[in-house]
Amino acid sequence: MSYHQQLTIGLFGFGVVGEGLYKVLEKTPSLKATIKKVCIKNPEKKRNAPAELFTTDKNEILFDEEINVIVEVINESEAAFEIVSTAFKNGKAVVSASKKMIAEHLPEILQLQKETGLPFLCEAAACASIPVIRNLEEYYDNDLLHAIKGIINGSTNYILTKMFEDKLDFKQALLQAQQLGFAEADPTLDIDGWDALNKWCILLNHAYGIVASPQQIVFNGIQSIQLSDALVAKEKNYQIKLVAQAQKLQNGKVAAFVLPQFVKQEDHLAFVKNEYNGVVIESGFADKQFFYGKGAGSFPTASAVLSDISALRYDYKYEYKKLYHHVPGELTEDFYLKVYLSFDDWKYIPREKLEWIEEWHAEDDRKYLVGVLPFKELKNSTWWKENNTSLIVSPEPIIEDVEIRKLKKKSLELAGVI
Ligand SMILES: NC(=O)c1ccc[n+]([C@@H]2O[C@H](COP(=O)([O-])OP(=O)(O)OC[C@H]3O[C@@H](n4cnc5c(N)ncnc54)[C@H](OP(=O)(O)O)[C@@H]3O)[C@@H](O)[C@H]2O)c1
Repeated sequence: MSYHQQLTIGLFGFGVVGEGLYKVLEKTPSLKATIKKVCIKNPEKKRNAPAELFTTDKNEILFDEEINVIVEVINESEAAFEIVSTAFKNGKAVVSASKKMIAEHLPEILQLQKETGLPFLCEAAACASIPVIRNLEEYYDNDLLHAIKGIINGSTNYILTKMFEDKLDFKQALLQAQQLGFAEADPTLDIDGWDALNKWCILLNHAYGIVASPQQIVFNGIQSIQLSDALVAKEKNYQIKLVAQAQKLQNGKVAAFVLPQFVKQEDHLAFVKNEYNGVVIESGFADKQFFYGKGAGSFPTASAVLSDISALRYDYKYEYKKLYHHVPGELTEDFYLKVYLSFDDWKYIPREKLEWIEEWHAEDDRKYLVGVLPFKELKNSTWWKENNTSLIVSPEPIIEDVEIRKLKKKSLELAGVI
């Protein structure tokens, strides 16, 4: 595809993102990109565009030789993967926002790009309007990326902000998010952490060259967080955020997870409120950089799709340098996490699994402790997600130097404290 070539787009989906893109493209004539046809599911729905633009037959787009770009923004991941695969096989460049589809089919999508040499751009699938993928690909194109962490789900961040600032309980905050359109009628994908997990699989790939399936990553959402947890956080001068994070350890391997976290007031992520997203990147020599913006919504998401379409005119494609030209990152479970656990009854907490406990409090209705758990325990068990137990990781949760900690445990044992 050359700079002067006209981009003729076949669009799949005309919902929040698809219609947003249609409107944004109308206002960007300089791009030399036109939508030739839009494939939707329900032919009866009223559309804010000429009727002749629409079809329900995907092949009308996928086999149209004039169409050189497929923009896939539908909400069904298996159908989306089929569309993307056929588009590649028919020689078309692809732009997609479907995070679930990409996370679930990452190896196949990488293979299709390798085989066809065609571009697959998906900036909108990570943090919508925040251009984090292209920065990871181009600017952080080295193996000096020390750590990356982010608030990458707007609905959960909205709910946590309301629990914190307006002292709403979880249900009230969720209801308010739904009324304002920040959470779906069925909010489990966001609330239980699935959406952040899918995005994190995509970002781990561009940050470290890791190809991980969602099943490999330890994650949780905010469904178990209580108002009492927010009060404890406030006492300690922390906020609670759902944070996706990855860090290169001294052994060169990468620790990665998506879990609720206590965040210090001076942390960049404490600044990210309501439905906004934020990502902090820490590299070898540049210290920290902070990206902030809208992680969802019609125009913010459409603007990322538009930017990808525009990049196609420069023959841009991800090179996946960290995967193909460096030694790709490898996930490890060999580290420890400092955690806060709040729970209804001690019987739900296998205390013997904790390396040590630093602090504990017991009220009649709710108890909590702060201690250290092997990450493997989170990977291999589910007690920490069950029985109304709430696990929140500490501000700097990753502990590598466990030998010293073991000694500390020993000394506490000798002192009869544990
Ligand atoms: N909304 C956001 O802020 C946002 C942000 C980042 C990424 N995304 C991702 O972008 C994608 C689209 O999200 P959205 O919010 O725009 O969804 P949406 O409003 O629910 O719209 C989905 C669209 O896909 C169409 N569709 C569904 N299945 C189809 C099929 N098999 N063939 C053709 N069309 C089909 C629907 O057709 P009908 O109109 O006929 O029902 C509808 O137009 C999702 O993967 C989502 O995760 C969304």
